[in-house]
Amino acid sequence: MTSILPAEIPKLAADAIVISVHPKPDEGEWLLGPNAEQINQLTGGLVKRLIEESEIVTSPLSCTRILEPAGLRAKSLLVVGLGKPSEASPGLAFRAAAAAAKALATKQRRRVLMALDVEPQDEVVAGVFVGSTGQDLYRQQRKLFPITAPLIVDGDPKALERGEVLGQAINLTRRLVNAPPNEIFPASFADICVEQGTTCGFDVEVWDRARLEQERCRSLLAVAQGSANEPRLVIMCYQGAPADHATIGLIGKGVTFDSGGLSLKPSESMLDMKCDMAGAATVLGAMTALARLQIPANVIGLVGLVENMVSSTSYRLGDIVVARNGKTIEVHNTDAEGRMVLADVLDVARERGAQRLIDLATLTGACMVALGRNVAGGMTNDESWYADIAAAARQCGEPLWQLPMFPEYSEQIRSAVADIKNVGDGRWGGAITAAKFLEEFVGGQPWVHLDIAGPAFSEKGSAWLDAGASGCFVRTLVQAIENQA
Ligand code: BES
Ligand code: MN
Ligand code: ZN
Repeated sequence: MTSILPAEIPKLAADAIVISVHPKPDEGEWLLGPNAEQINQLTGGLVKRLIEESEIVTSPLSCTRILEPAGLRAKSLLVVGLGKPSEASPGLAFRAAAAAAKALATKQRRRVLMALDVEPQDEVVAGVFVGSTGQDLYRQQRKLFPITAPLIVDGDPKALERGEVLGQAINLTRRLVNAPPNEIFPASFADICVEQGTTCGFDVEVWDRARLEQERCRSLLAVAQGSANEPRLVIMCYQGAPADHATIGLIGKGVTFDSGGLSLKPSESMLDMKCDMAGAATVLGAMTALARLQIPANVIGLVGLVENMVSSTSYRLGDIVVARNGKTIEVHNTDAEGRMVLADVLDVARERGAQRLIDLATLTGACMVALGRNVAGGMTNDESWYADIAAAARQCGEPLWQLPMFPEYSEQIRSAVADIKNVGDGRWGGAITAAKFLEEFVGGQPWVHLDIAGPAFSEKGSAWLDAGASGCFVRTLVQAIENQA
């Protein structure tokens, strides 16, 4: 990444220059940002003229390409719309940069100047990395060519670094989620955690099956027992603040493939279940960013890694298992496996001294029924901790909506023969009864549960993001922890 001065723009032989524009206001003076204004003048008023003729579309994230613009040495100019100035936000800056980068990534372009008139710069840089990177790693013919070294006007080194680190963290999360389940399984995921710990600077401890047995993680082990791929629990420790500062625990669901187990999923719902470790990948992505940016906070990341499979050794409906915290769980549906895994991981997090917890999980289809594909569900036992997380999500522009946790929901997970059962009564309120189950294992610590089943993975993609994994909530986690520090 290189910073250039505004005065260098006219002479720059770039492959592409990206500027951003608002629509012409109904009344009052029409102002372009300083970069767009300079380009407008260099091109003899072309930008404003094309907006007035509606050739350049100014609605949010619309991209218009102008090839070999007279007056510039650049091969092309890309104009990205921002909508009304009143709608400006860091989230829009991220998405606008990502949309422009995605539009330009159709072939290899080396010298791309990001001259958007938006704030903050780190969101622009992160957006370039994310938007120009696709899910087609395994194709012989790529569809997207990553832009890895954008040029930025008047770049502030700190902001450029934060943007690059965030962009790469999000792309790490996306790459792991997009990778097929024959490549990413519990042991290989754990190896990647160890590798990242070494390069980014955090400690990593890996529990194998023998250790998990020693530690009485029988709820996690019940899910794992149907698979030839052995489970792992990974504990990642980043100490950026003095030891007497509070520790935040990030917990991720890492089901590397969810067949449903004996409560087998139909094929259509099983295809995308490589994405069921997105919570774990998000935790790992956030850990890499926190450590590389040396955020002054103490954070412990824990991921429970299992594969939920069908075999003669699978856990069964009617099985009763004793979770690590001593509670007994009656299994009513082996496809409600994520909560079985998280139950034990949450208990380890508490034991390791995490005072405030956030878990992330592609936990329920019910959450998608409630909120759709793009919005995460948030549930909590502590409104003030929730408010901190919700504020960070708002800052980053990542959609999150709170679901209620009335005590009545807990009655639905009572079992006749054990302390609790792993599903509610029927499917109504399924996202909440799942959260109520998790609440049984947080030992009363302030806790926020983020159900990312909707936004973590999309079949379709959008103007600013390729289809597949989104890397959602990596930015929110880092922002929330920075806000605390
Ligand atoms: N991993 C799924 C949830 C999921 C569904 C994630 C769609 C992403 C997209 C989870 O393990 C699951 O199967 N949940 C069940 C719970 C039910 C059996 C109580 C569900 O939502 O149907
Ligand atoms: Mn499942
Ligand atoms: Zn699952």
